[in-house]
Amino acid sequence: MKPFAPLFISFEGIDGSGKSTQCQKLYHELLGRGYKVHLFREPGGTHISEKIRDILLDKEHTEISPITEMLLYFASRNQLITEKVIPALKRGEVVLLDRFVDSTLAYQGYGRDLPLESIRQVADVAIGDVMPHLTILVDTPLETAENRMDDRELDRLEAENRDFKENTRKGYLELAKQEPDRWLILDGRESIESLKARVINRVTNLLNG
Ligand SMILES: Nc1ncnc2c1ncn2[C@@H]1O[C@H](COP(=O)(O)OP(=O)(O)OP(=O)(O)O)[C@@H](O)[C@H]1O
Ligand SMILES: [Mg+2]
Repeated sequence: MKPFAPLFISFEGIDGSGKSTQCQKLYHELLGRGYKVHLFREPGGTHISEKIRDILLDKEHTEISPITEMLLYFASRNQLITEKVIPALKRGEVVLLDRFVDSTLAYQGYGRDLPLESIRQVADVAIGDVMPHLTILVDTPLETAENRMDDRELDRLEAENRDFKENTRKGYLELAKQEPDRWLILDGRESIESLKARVINRVTNLLNG
C-alpha cells in the first residue's frame, strides 16, 4: 500500500436515499485495497454518542425542542470526532461517516427552519475546522426513498411529514451548490453498482491526487 494523506468522507441524503449502502460498499472496497478504514454512523459511533442517538430517535420524545435536538446532534458529533475521527486522521487513516454536520444544516435548518447561522455557530464550537475532504450526496426523490423504506418500522424522524422531507432534500442541494468542490452529487435513482462506481472513481482520484 502506498503512503497516503488522511482522507475524510461523509455521506448525506434523506432517509432511504441509499447512503448506508454506498458507505458499506466504499468501506469494503478500501479495506480490500489495503487501506486502514473506519466507518461510523451519526448520530453514534462512540458509547456516549450511541446513548445520545437513543434519545434523538426515540418515538416517544415528541416534546423535544428544535434547539435541544440540534445541540444533542452536535454533542454526539463532538464526542465522535474527539474520540475517533481526529485520532484516526492523525494516524493517516481513512474515515467514512454515514451523516455529518450537513445533516443538521439540512434537517434542522432547511427542514425545521432553525436559523442556519445559529447552527453554524454551534458547529464552530463542536467541530471547528474538522470538515470532510469530500461529501457525497445521494440525492433521491422522496417517493423512491420512501418505497425503499416500506418494510421498515419508521423512527421518530423518519415519520415526519412530506414538506419537512422535501425541504430537507432541497436544503442538501442548496448546501452542495454553495461548496461545489467539497460535494459530489449522485442521482440516487441509479443502480447500487452504478453509484458505487461513481463513488470509487472520485475517491480513487482523491487518494492518488
Ligand atoms: N441505488 C439503489 N437502488 C435500489 N435500491 C437501493 C439503492 N440504494 C439502496 N437501496 C436499498 O434501499 C434501502 C435503503 O438503503 P440505505 O439503507 O442505504 O438508505 P439510507 O440512506 O442509509 O437510509 P437511512 O437514512 O434511513 O439510514 C435498502 O434496502 C437498500 O438495499
Ligand atoms: Mg442508513
